[in-house]
Amino acid sequence: MAQVAAKNARAVFITGAAGGIGTATTRALAQRGYRVYAGVRGETPHLRELVGVEQIRIDVTDPESVAAAAEEVTRLQDGQGLHAVINNAGIMIQGPLELVPAEDLRRQFAINVFGPAEVTRAFAPLLREGRGRLINISAPTARLAMPFASPISASKAALDAISDAARIEFGAQGIAVVTVIPGAAETELFAKAEAAADSALAAADPVRLELYRPQLAAMGAAQAKMRTSEPGKVADTILKALEAARPRARYVANPDVRPALILSRLPAWLRDRMLIAMLGLNKAKAA
Ligand SMILES: NC(=O)c1ccc[n+]([C@@H]2O[C@H](COP(=O)([O-])OP(=O)(O)OC[C@H]3O[C@@H](n4cnc5c(N)ncnc54)[C@H](OP(=O)(O)O)[C@@H]3O)[C@@H](O)[C@H]2O)c1
Repeated sequence: MAQVAAKNARAVFITGAAGGIGTATTRALAQRGYRVYAGVRGETPHLRELVGVEQIRIDVTDPESVAAAAEEVTRLQDGQGLHAVINNAGIMIQGPLELVPAEDLRRQFAINVFGPAEVTRAFAPLLREGRGRLINISAPTARLAMPFASPISASKAALDAISDAARIEFGAQGIAVVTVIPGAAETELFAKAEAAADSALAAADPVRLELYRPQLAAMGAAQAKMRTSEPGKVADTILKALEAARPRARYVANPDVRPALILSRLPAWLRDRMLIAMLGLNKAKAA
């Protein structure tokens, strides 16, 4: 049973509320007194006890589910609109492009790109009503495409492009569009991505897979060394973006995002060389 927020509390809708960053953000918002419509795919016990949090079923890949979620929030808000919509739900698909199943690539775009676009369309009237803001959760890979991670990189680049265009379209209506860029955060995202990649590689043509083995091993070692921070840092940044009187277009949530943004501005030849060296791909002998 959802507990009730103050009657005039400002309201926020967030997708992927059951996940690491989603839960941290839902909790931070609830603690600040917001009424939170927590978009979940199934009943989520750990959100149940939070004051002012109402779970809303949504699968962002299903337009009927998105429309039903928007209708339910509209009914519950009863003419008050929303202070923010946070497109946070996302997955990560990685692997050599040649070996990524087409279906996985489609799923990557369905959840990370078409989903937020559908949510934006469905919830725009609520944002207009509340003179709210739209917050899209991006990733450093949007600007710096990573080798062996083309699906996630391409999806976040597409989401950034959507955010950039929407910022001007919605800006004229008083709706700010903000991108938040998390660094590596301790969530289940990576374990889920690894499981999906393992099953895709297990089904891949073994002759082709063999060609990539040394580089995949180097990538695995580089990823194992990656430092992660707790998702609360991202939640704090989302809160900052949500409460700024004049929100910026982009907020960087963690310091590890900066080197990626700097690398992204280098000429391609230099950027490639640096990435290859940093990931240890230069030491991985070609099979
Ligand atoms: N963690 C990081 O290091 C990192 C870095 C940069 C950017 N990000 C971005 O931050 C966002 C949140 O990621 P996270 O790290 O918190 O990952 P997470 O813990 O795996 O959470 C992802 C959430 O998305 C939901 N989701 C997946 N498919 C969905 C669908 N079809 N419809 C609705 N919801 C769906 C998941 O729901 P279920 O629980 O039902 O599966 C889950 O709640 C993502 O957009 C991610 O790309 C994360």
